Amino acid sequence: MLELSERIKEHFRNPQNVSEIENPEGMGAVNNPVCGDTTKLYLRIKNGVVEDAKFLSFGCAVTIASASVFTEKIKGKEVSKLFLGTDDEVVQRLVSLIESELGEIPPIKLHCPPATVQVFLESVAGYLEKVGRADLSSRAKSLIPKISEYYKRGEEKE
Ligand code: FES
Repeated sequence: MLELSERIKEHFRNPQNVSEIENPEGMGAVNNPVCGDTTKLYLRIKNGVVEDAKFLSFGCAVTIASASVFTEKIKGKEVSKLFLGTDDEVVQRLVSLIESELGEIPPIKLHCPPATVQVFLESVAGYLEKVGRADLSSRAKSLIPKISEYYKRGEEKE
């Protein structure tokens, strides 16, 4: 049987921020390329700061725990500051928001957290475009292919 950390179980049993946001500034949906599980993300962003984040997911325990943690951690963050640093640093920082909280993730489940990061980048890219930050919007979109490396991590360890 798959051993999940206590933090994963807690967030799966009692996920935070499960719902939609009406007229969100940012919104996206992703199908995990490895397993097809779906996650939708909604962002309320005011003055460049993430005020609220909600999600809906048809996914496994780790996906739900990942979105739960991420939506908690992203609140209060200034969007432009999330893009400081190299591409690798930005993606790693976003993945770490989730993984530093969840404890050890079984190798077979390492493809689950990156989907939340992907849907965030898609959602925030849409917001940035709307507010005239085409530069940062393009940057957010350009980071999405970087996530493919994270989806593959489980394969390496199997
Ligand atoms: Fe599909 Fe976790 S996201 S198994």
